[in-house]
Amino acid sequence: MPRAGSLRRSATFDAPPNIALVKYWGVRDPRLGLPFNSSVSVTLDRLRSRTTVAFDPALREDAVEINGAPATGGPRDGVVHFLDRVRTMAGTTDAAHVTSENNFPTASGLASSASGFAALAAAASRAAGLRLTPRALSQLARFGSGSASRSVFGGFVEWRAGTRPDGSDCYARPLHPEDHWPALRDVVLLVRGAPVKEVRSKDAMQATVRTSSEYRRRLRELPPRLVRIERAIGARDARALFPLIMDECDSFRAVCETTRPSLDYLTSTSRAILAEVREMNRAAGRAVAGYTHDAGAHVHVFTLARDAGRVRRRLGAIPGVDRTLVLRPGPGLREVGSGRGGRRP
Ligand code: DP6
Repeated sequence: MPRAGSLRRSATFDAPPNIALVKYWGVRDPRLGLPFNSSVSVTLDRLRSRTTVAFDPALREDAVEINGAPATGGPRDGVVHFLDRVRTMAGTTDAAHVTSENNFPTASGLASSASGFAALAAAASRAAGLRLTPRALSQLARFGSGSASRSVFGGFVEWRAGTRPDGSDCYARPLHPEDHWPALRDVVLLVRGAPVKEVRSKDAMQATVRTSSEYRRRLRELPPRLVRIERAIGARDARALFPLIMDECDSFRAVCETTRPSLDYLTSTSRAILAEVREMNRAAGRAVAGYTHDAGAHVHVFTLARDAGRVRRRLGAIPGVDRTLVLRPGPGLREVGSGRGGRRP
């Protein structure tokens, strides 16, 4: 156990969001946060959460600030529970100042829980004096948010479900670095009036496991689909990849819609985007693009650099699309600074 005096007290890390091409949806062991299936994602460039954790023996309870305002309720509880886990690992009882800022709108559906908890896992563990490997960080981050395990790494990432009951073979690992496929683009369509998530994905997915008649079928279909998606990524084969990620997204949406009560994350604009991508591919006679979405209304459309401008203009013109971003695969966690003392507000 590290002595209090030897702890590095403060650390700041940046972490990116990621978008899943094979979705995590369903927990087989809630205590250890183990998923039913392995998932695959692309880490996104330009967007990030920056989180500073400063342990302070003079502080009576954790002080959590998110995007410039004190956090309360569920978001604060999530951070405090996470810090408790880190304190247990490090053998300290000190409270901490936590500040976290996104350079994109929180709860915009751009996976701020993934970037936020990946940055928190790195900053809290480092500030508490722990030196965790990237793999161990991915295992820690999943206790905040499952998808956060993948935001530790850049590029193309797999979160392995594993089979061991103790979770020791459940971790994220990099498949390819961010420069593996320089021509790949993610055209993100931010949809107006996207409802703010009321139920955390963690809870929504368990409703699916319990009630969706389609869930077992999805689990059977996933292993071969994951192999094909990873193979298409490895070969930079857009024609193979785009239809596969649309199938996967449709399968994810089907289990949401057959959950009781039904989970419907899309707006009419999101649905119009999906239809337009299908139509573009049909008219071109090839897979120009492939859509995916998470538990939210915004849509990510993967395409190649040469088609990205056209895809962006065409989909951006659909009524109800507020903003478009064109992102690339990006780097993973990055240390911004650490030291003793930290800042004392
Ligand atoms: C549909 O890991 O974000 O985005 O623990 O509630 O934060 P919470 O869940 P989270 O769930 C991700 C669900 C998904 C698919 C994915 O990212 O793999």
